[in-house]
Amino acid sequence: MSATGVKICDVEEADKEDVDKAVEAARAAAQRGSPWRRMDASSRGRMLHQLADLMERDRLLLATLETLDTGKPFLQSFFIDLDGSIKTLRYYAGWADKIQGKSLPVDESFVCLTKHEPVGVCGAIIPWNFPLLMLTWKLAPALSCGNTVVIKPAEQTPLTALHIGSLIKEVGFPPGVVNIVPGFGPTAGAAIASHMDIDKVAFTGSTEVGQLIKEAAAKSNLKRVTLELGGKNPCIVFADCDLQMAVKETQKGAFYNQGQCCTAASRVFVEESIYEEFVRCSVENAKKIVIGDPLDPQTSQGPQIDHQQFVKIMDLIESGKKEGARLEYGGTAVGEKNLFIQPTIFSGVKDHMRIAKEEVFGPVQCILSFKSQQEVIERANSSQYGLVSAIFTTSMDRALSVSASLETGTVWINCYNALHTQAPFGGYKMSGNGRELGEYALAEYTEVKAVTIKLSETL
Ligand code: NAI
Ligand code: MG
Repeated sequence: MSATGVKICDVEEADKEDVDKAVEAARAAAQRGSPWRRMDASSRGRMLHQLADLMERDRLLLATLETLDTGKPFLQSFFIDLDGSIKTLRYYAGWADKIQGKSLPVDESFVCLTKHEPVGVCGAIIPWNFPLLMLTWKLAPALSCGNTVVIKPAEQTPLTALHIGSLIKEVGFPPGVVNIVPGFGPTAGAAIASHMDIDKVAFTGSTEVGQLIKEAAAKSNLKRVTLELGGKNPCIVFADCDLQMAVKETQKGAFYNQGQCCTAASRVFVEESIYEEFVRCSVENAKKIVIGDPLDPQTSQGPQIDHQQFVKIMDLIESGKKEGARLEYGGTAVGEKNLFIQPTIFSGVKDHMRIAKEEVFGPVQCILSFKSQQEVIERANSSQYGLVSAIFTTSMDRALSVSASLETGTVWINCYNALHTQAPFGGYKMSGNGRELGEYALAEYTEVKAVTIKLSETL
């Protein structure tokens, strides 16, 4: 379905049997002695670079498909999502022949060498908010380390993954190395999570499904699981900050991708003395947002992904009104039979309100006030989630000491959504397990083997 509710095309639905076939192919391609396992690591890297080249060639097509499928503004697909995806492939292409073990100083007359081997068959379950980006975050390190993969795109957004499938063929990856199974969560997704012959699964999505996946992994073959789940991400805005910059960054964080981000800046804590001014400037800033056809380059906000998400967001907006938050801007749907929601700003938000506790996953900014540093740290940390946080201040001393107290996998200082391929990304607490991106992700896609040799003479 397109952003405006028009059918784009039909897509074959993969179910459990298709997942079984995909895993069989992936297992055969992962066997010792297979062309993929015998291939030089530098050649693996070259293939990833070739895939990145083809994505550059097909950038316009991929960005158009991504926007048609998700409703995100075209320029965001074309520049940010495509750039991020291509950079991820190139970054891990570079790692392919640098994944190396150590020689360890073990006791007595032994030599111990460690080797980093592929885990084997890796499952990947992808969400609909960043279909291409989340796919490359999983595909690139998995292939760089020499694994084979079975990828399930989200049922709402399978199109770019399917085009990547054709590019994988064009590059000439050996058959079975990459398998793409477009299907639904409870069928194809669950089949991956509980499969006896998948060695690892990487998931991005809701915390609820993350729990199901870990349970299925535990009950099947104890496959390794990495999870990237929800967030209720605190931003702390101190009175000494650059106010206009903090307004822009926190709002970009709240509304980016129609608010459908695990990193959404969903709790903005502002120091009391600048609170009123911050709210006023945030409302002014929100007026610049242009809602419309996502293929129009003027558009900065498209529709929500589907009716289910739309209903969830509108319900949370209503709860904010009922629980006594002050609606400063937006708060209603745009048009009648579509999925556009006005950017919405609530002030006077209190910690106990649903909009301050639950992941909204829509264009809703909640602004709270605080008095002291100690108080705001405690409130920021009092969440089941721990994905990202942000601090706005001109004092680096304060920024560093507050960042040490925040229980999140990422802390942004005077910036927001500053994701880089080279830096690790992942959550504390119920925001997930493990890290994607950077060198850290390599550990999630390799087994470490210790090879110990006894020498005849003491060294
Ligand atoms: P979801 O977690 O159900 O879907 C994400 C992926 O998991 C999709 O590929 C889906 O097919 C798959 N899936 C669903 N049920 C599964 C199961 N039983 N076994 C294996 N795979 C399964 O997310 P949904 O329902 O689309 O959105 C619900 C909420 O989740 C959103 O409102 C948002 O709060 C959160 N979410 C978070 C994301 C993130 O980036 N961390 C992305 C998408 C949703
Ligand atoms: Mg779901």
